[in-house]
Parts: sequence; structure tokens; C-alpha cells
Amino acid sequence: MHELEIKVPASRPGSYKVAVGSGFLANLWPQIKSAFGHRRPFVIADANVVAAGHLDTLLGGRPVPHFVIDPPGEVSKNITTAVAIVEAMEKAYLGRDTVVVALGGGTVGDVAGFAAAIFKRGVPIVQIPTTTLAQADSAIGGKTGVDSSVSKNAFGAFWHPAAVYVDVATVRTLDERQYRSGLTESVKHALIADAEYFEFLEQKMDVILDRQGEVLQTLAQHNCAIKGRVVEADPDERNQRRMLNYGHTIGHAVESASNYRLLHGEAVAIGIVAAGRIEIEMGLSEPGRLERVTTLLSRLGVPVTLPPDLDAEKLIDLIRHDKKAIDRWPRFVLLGQLGRVHCPDGQYALEVDRRIVEKVTQSMVDDR
Ligand SMILES: NC(=O)c1ccc[n+]([C@@H]2O[C@H](COP(=O)([O-])OP(=O)(O)OC[C@H]3O[C@@H](n4cnc5c(N)ncnc54)[C@H](O)[C@@H]3O)[C@@H](O)[C@H]2O)c1
Ligand SMILES: [Zn+2]
Repeated sequence: MHELEIKVPASRPGSYKVAVGSGFLANLWPQIKSAFGHRRPFVIADANVVAAGHLDTLLGGRPVPHFVIDPPGEVSKNITTAVAIVEAMEKAYLGRDTVVVALGGGTVGDVAGFAAAIFKRGVPIVQIPTTTLAQADSAIGGKTGVDSSVSKNAFGAFWHPAAVYVDVATVRTLDERQYRSGLTESVKHALIADAEYFEFLEQKMDVILDRQGEVLQTLAQHNCAIKGRVVEADPDERNQRRMLNYGHTIGHAVESASNYRLLHGEAVAIGIVAAGRIEIEMGLSEPGRLERVTTLLSRLGVPVTLPPDLDAEKLIDLIRHDKKAIDRWPRFVLLGQLGRVHCPDGQYALEVDRRIVEKVTQSMVDDR
């Protein structure tokens, strides 16, 4: 098993381990018990993760109190679910000596992390991500939260995990569309931080789509190392961590303008292409870069053009309302070169002339 350590900053005690391997879920429980033996575990999964057999594999028949989020997915990522989880923990007579174990995708991880952050003023959380998105992105970094009826992640807390166990074999049961969509975050990581990793994705895309254990482990190691490094440097997203929002400014707007018919990674793929066009407009792109990126995303099978029914006005309006906006106009993360974010004066998120953004958005609309 490959291990790396995330050093949580000085303001907090300790650090946490991220273990990456393939097919170790069935043998993981004793490890969790030995790492958190003095704590009583409470496992949170969702109905699809249970149906795929992962909860049984993890628990191996042990009688451990657990909560199954049902229906699965974003619809249940709300405060009602968080309250139900906290109350289930109380009813199981758990206290401050609990360790919460989240087994699932980003939805489970975010809700479970939030529940752990608020239960008895905070108990440790172990993340066992089971989607390509969660393994690459959400399980590491300590952002937890639930949606309100108005916006995504309206309630939340930074609550860093006590440990992360990435068993890449768990993503084999994921449906094809979710699998591919989540891999967009891997492409994003390569683009912002590691040109060689980008080449690896170009070379191995077919094997990755075949979900072969060895290549998935290499992928997970790269993702965890990149995300871990960025989070370590800036755990509370004051500056550097913003680079993880590459492709997300327009991506979030596209996701929302599609009324969430597009999956997150699919919308981010479109956002990455839009960022690439902005880079060209600003003279930041080397020749052929956007074509390379678009080709890789197309091979991944995520969209690189806007859906036909998405209206440009609404999109611009949504970009303006990006929650990270300053003066009602959002900042953009842009690449200076493949594998490196452009950060003049140490700023990772930059203001872009709104005429450029409007021009690029219009060009995306015209090209669909
Ligand atoms: N905390 C963060 O830093 C962060 C970062 C990125 C995204 N997110 C959040 O993550 C969420 C999206 O994550 P996601 O794409 O993993 O969604 P998800 O957890 O909803 O999983 C997608 C679908 O796959 C199912 N599933 C999960 N694992 C499975 C498996 N192994 N086999 C079969 N089915 C499985 C789920 O039940 C769900 O239907 C969003 O809410 C987003 O806001 C958080
Ligand atoms: Zn994302």
C-alpha cells in the first residue's frame, strides 16, 4: 500500500495519512480498529454503495452501527440528512469517543464529514471514497457541508479527516457516466500541477477507462499527492488552494444553468475548455495546448461544448453570482503553461476583463 502524509498546518494538531491501494477494503476494518481502537465507530454509506456490496465488504458481518443515506446522491445532501445522522448516533448511545467512517462518494463524504464536525462539537472522520471524484478530490482537504434549498454547500465546516483510505477497486462498480465524469478532476490536477501526469493520462486513458487496478493506483497517488500538497500549503483556501477551482468558475455556472442535468465533472470539462479559450484571449496559451486538452477530455467522454439548450444570458448571470466573486465578478484560475497556474504577484485567482469572458462564453454558445 502506498502512503503519504498530509501535514495539517500548525494551527491544528497532527496530520493525516492517505493510504492508496487496490482491493484492500475487505481487510481494512482491523486497521481502522487499531488506529482508532479507543473510539467507537459509526459508519455512513448510501444505498448504492450498500447495493454494490461495499458496506458488507468493509464490515465483514461485524455488528457496527451505521446509517445508510437513501435516496443516494445530491438530493440527500441537506441539513435534514445531517440531523438524521446526528440523531442516529445519539440513539446508538455514541458520544465524543465516536469515530465516523464515511464510505461512499462526495455526497456521503461531505454529509458525513459535516455530521462529524457538529456531533458533540466534533468527532474524527475517516474517509473511504468510492467514486473517481471523491478519490481524486473530495475525500482530501477537509471541506465538508450540505446544501440549502437556495445553494450548494450553504452549511459547512472545514473538518479535516483523521485518515483517508483510497481503495481504487471500489470504483469498478460505479456507473460509466459517473466514472468518467469524476476523472475530469484528475485532468484538472494534471493541468494545474503536473505536465508529466498529463502525458501519463494521454498515454493511459484507454487503460484507465478499463478500470485496471494498477493504473488506477498510479492515478490515485498522483491525485492525492497534488491535492494534498495544495491543501497542506493553504488549508483554509486563502490563496493557493484556489487553483483547485480551475475550470470551476464557468463549470459551476454551466452545471447550474443545466439544472444539474450535467454531472459536476461534465460541467467542469466545459469550464476547462472555456478557461483554455480565455487563456488564448489573454496570450497565456502555447500553441496547440487547448487542442490537446480538448482531445483528452473527448477521449474521456465528457462534453467539451455547451449543451444546445443552455442560454448565454443565464450563464453570464450565473458566472456573476459565483460565490467566490468579488465585486460581483468572479475570479478565474488560468494556466500559464500546461502543468502550471499563471499567478502574477502570487495571486492564483485573477480578474479577467468581462469583455473577454463574454466573448468566450458567446463563442462557446456559437460553437455548440
Ligand atoms: N468536499 C470537497 O472538497 C468536494 C470536492 C468536490 C466535490 N464535492 C462534492 O461531492 C459531491 C459529488 O461527489 P460524487 O460525484 O462522488 O457523488 P455521489 O457521492 O453522489 O456519488 C455519485 C453516485 O454514485 C453512487 N456511488 C458511489 N460510489 C459507488 C460505487 N463504488 N459503486 C456504485 N455506485 C456508487 C452514489 O450513490 C451516487 O448515486 C458533490 O456534492 C460535490 O459538491 C466535494
Ligand atoms: Zn470539482
